[in-house]
Amino acid sequence: MEDLSRRKMIKLGLLSSATALLVSCGENSKARIATPAEIEGPFYPLSGQADQDSDLTETAGYHGVADGEHIIVQGQILDTEGCFIENAMIDIWQANSKGRYHHPNDTNPAPLDPGFQGRAIMQSGKNGAFRFKTVMPGTYPVSETWIRPPHIHFKVSRKDYLTLTTQMYFPDEERNEADLLFSKKEASEQLLMTAESGDKEELAVYRYNIILERQS
Ligand SMILES: [Fe+2]
Repeated sequence: MEDLSRRKMIKLGLLSSATALLVSCGENSKARIATPAEIEGPFYPLSGQADQDSDLTETAGYHGVADGEHIIVQGQILDTEGCFIENAMIDIWQANSKGRYHHPNDTNPAPLDPGFQGRAIMQSGKNGAFRFKTVMPGTYPVSETWIRPPHIHFKVSRKDYLTLTTQMYFPDEERNEADLLFSKKEASEQLLMTAESGDKEELAVYRYNIILERQS
């Protein structure tokens, strides 16, 4: 890749310096470990939500925006050989800024937010890139002694690859360590499941690459 276009892509946030040289499945690619799976959890969205675009801070027909801190999450979908995966389906869902899911089984008394979309479905583009705008998810109680740290659920699928269901965590979150799911992972797995802080734009940016495994 020419220096100019690489610089431009880094500026656009589509490549981090660490992956800037990774442009194809050719000589610059390197083997990677697949992103660890995590449980789907009880709040996978029910069908019927029409608004599923990649801006979760606005909902169709509502005049206002979602409560809480608005953030950008972006990254790339790759395989374990380091090749970019385009046209992968990326299905995400999360709690709103108060820790409540838009799901009838969520008994958390925290309020629903009519400005928050709660779920999005998008496709990876050129070089496997994806990007969405959302809110920093709130924490929520699972039991009297277990409070989940902020996280975003991902389900990523593509023909010829194993579908990956996982959860993305945020860096420097004090609740990560005590979380009963996150703490069960090896340190190396935790690293792969935690976003990095990216260069701040108008909003805070979190970078999160997802590595899929080929179907054998
Ligand atoms: Fe969750």
